[in-house]
Amino acid sequence: MSLNQSRKKVAVLISGRGSNMVSLLEAAKAEDFPAQIVCVGSNRPDAAGLQRARDAGIATFSLDHKRYGKDREAFERELHEELEAAGAELVVLAGFMRLLTPWFVNRWHNRLINIHPALLPAFPGLDTHARALEAGVKLHGATVHFVTAEMDVGPIIAQGSVAVRDDDDAQTLGARVLQVEHQIYPQALRLIASGAYKIDGMRVLASGS
Ligand code: GAR
Repeated sequence: MSLNQSRKKVAVLISGRGSNMVSLLEAAKAEDFPAQIVCVGSNRPDAAGLQRARDAGIATFSLDHKRYGKDREAFERELHEELEAAGAELVVLAGFMRLLTPWFVNRWHNRLINIHPALLPAFPGLDTHARALEAGVKLHGATVHFVTAEMDVGPIIAQGSVAVRDDDDAQTLGARVLQVEHQIYPQALRLIASGAYKIDGMRVLASGS
C-alpha cells in the first residue's frame, strides 16, 4: 500500500482566516504524517482561509449557511454529502463557528474533532480570552477534543497552556494561545489519524500501538 493510500483522509472545516488549517497543511507535508487533507470546507463563502487552501492546491467547497435559514439539518445534510464525496474519514473543525446538531455529530461519532481556545472544561463558548482575564486565571490555553452533541464537551485529545501575564489583554493573550493551537492541533491529529489511542470515558489514552 502506498503512503497516500494508508493515510487517513481528513476534511478541515473553517469559518475564517484558517491559521489552524494552515498549521495542519504544513504538518501533513511530513512524509510520516498519518493524515492527508483532502478538502477544506466553509460555511462562509468569503472565509479567507479558503483562498489559502486553494493556494496550497487543496480542493475547497463552501456552503453558505444563510441559504438554509433556520433549517440546520438541511445545511448539515449537504455538508455531510460534501464530506462523503471527498472521501473524508475524519473531520477537523478549525475555527468552524457553526453549531452542529446531534444529527451531524452522531454521524461523525469519534471521527469529528475540534480545537477550542481555552483549557476545557474552563471557558466553553465564546470570548474565552476576555473571560479568562476576568476570572483571574494564571494559566490559559487551548484544547483539542472529540466533538459530542454538547458544545465544547467531549474527550480531550490534547491541551497546551500559556502563562497569563499581568499586562495581557484579550488580544495579546489570544495571540499566544493561537501559537499553542498551531502546535497542539497537528500533534492531536497525528495521534487520532494514527489510530494508536483509545477512549476511556472523557480520557483519550495513547495506546502506543
Ligand atoms: C481559533 O482560535 C480557534 O480555537 C477558535 O477560532 C479561532 C480560529 O482561528 N475556535 C473557536 O472559537 C471554536 N469555538 P483560525 O481560523 O486562524 O484557525
